Amino acid sequence: MIPFAIGLGVGLAIGALFALWQMSWFRSLRRYLLDAMDAIVQGRYDVRMYEYRSRPAEIAIFRHFNRMAERIQETLADLSQERDILRHILQNMTTGVIYLRSDGQVQMVNHAAERLFRRPVEQWKDRDHWTVFRNYQLGSAIDHALLFGTPWSGEFQIRDGVTVAVRLVPISAAPRMRNKADGRHDVLMLVNDVSEWRRLERMRSDFVANVSHELKTPIAAIRGFAETLLDGDVDEEAREKFLRTIYEESLRMGNLVSDLLELSKLEASDSHVDPVAVDLYEVLVRAVDRVRPVANEKEITIELPREQRLHVWAEPDLLLQVFLNLLTNAIHYSPPKSRVCVTWDVLVDRVKVHVKDNGIGIPKESLPRVFERFYRVHKDRSRASGGTGLGLAIVKHIVTALGGEVGVESEEGKGSDFWFTLSRLDARP
Ligand SMILES: Nc1ncnc2c1ncn2[C@@H]1O[C@H](COP(=O)(O)OP(=O)(O)O)[C@@H](O)[C@H]1O
Ligand SMILES: [Mg+2]
Repeated sequence: MIPFAIGLGVGLAIGALFALWQMSWFRSLRRYLLDAMDAIVQGRYDVRMYEYRSRPAEIAIFRHFNRMAERIQETLADLSQERDILRHILQNMTTGVIYLRSDGQVQMVNHAAERLFRRPVEQWKDRDHWTVFRNYQLGSAIDHALLFGTPWSGEFQIRDGVTVAVRLVPISAAPRMRNKADGRHDVLMLVNDVSEWRRLERMRSDFVANVSHELKTPIAAIRGFAETLLDGDVDEEAREKFLRTIYEESLRMGNLVSDLLELSKLEASDSHVDPVAVDLYEVLVRAVDRVRPVANEKEITIELPREQRLHVWAEPDLLLQVFLNLLTNAIHYSPPKSRVCVTWDVLVDRVKVHVKDNGIGIPKESLPRVFERFYRVHKDRSRASGGTGLGLAIVKHIVTALGGEVGVESEEGKGSDFWFTLSRLDARP
């Protein structure tokens, strides 16, 4: 009996010890698990459970836990990579992007918007849109979009010479945030700089207005004189005079039309001018031969540089145009019996060609504008010579298309020096 009791006692003791040991193991396993989960809650997704001295049952739990942590970590990494990509796209696009929270404050701006509005990001964040844009029309459109979800697009000037096109895209805020059940919207604002477009549009309409104006004068003159002639009752001398005027005015119109055609041809072929090696002297001589009759009429001598074989990158017909325009100007805007002098400086990689005269010159304030279309300093003189006001614009266009530069130095009453540069070809093979 006694041995049995001892045996039972020992057995119970061993059983109790085992149960105790099992419980403490279970407790420590629980703590280990809780600690690991706590780490996840705190955002330390790299936490892992180790199988050190563990049993198969635990190992399965640990592996499951580790797999879960890995998945979370991977998903988050994917998301943050995607977010980085989106952020890079957003920051590097040319459209300004501004995100307005439903309370009307700025949540986010990209670099383009900072640049457009010349306002660093610190001066945007969490500020009310009224304090940022200070434009009544835009402000009320934003308020409408925030309150009623009304999209809007429009244009306004943010400072001198900068016009922007704005688009407001309301975004329903309800699904994202539970406490926004009041039906307000977030607003995405897209801003594009359209100043250049508007400038081009204005230029084009100015151009059309200028052309119409230029054509109106000769047409009116032609019509007037023709009417008088048709009325009869004109003596032979007057008849001759009227006919001459009609003839000259029609020449002027012809000049204008051919200059306009020349310009539009140049603009159309801007990208495909094919420069070849051109003998500069040869083209100059051709141009001088063409203007010689006009020069002779005014007894103006044209001096050429001494002949030299010099090749430049150009297009022969275009280069001829340049010389013709500069030489005719030099002759027209010079008094009789003066001299027009063509010279050139041979530089390392370029040639700088000068067409100088001792004529009436150009006042300082007009110098920057002479290459503009239809800009004339000496209006009457230009008209009298059949000028169109387009010659120098054509010169500038051609030289620029050939990769060179144009310029002018001039002093009123003393004369002008129009110059242009072209790329030089080495004479050696
Ligand atoms: N060599 C020059 N000397 C003085 N003024 C010039 C000279 N060349 C051009 N100009 C001025 O620049 C204006 C523009 O020249 P251009 O474009 O050739 O037009 P235009 O048809 O009037 O000659 C002229 O109207 C003239 O007033
Ligand atoms: Mg001219």
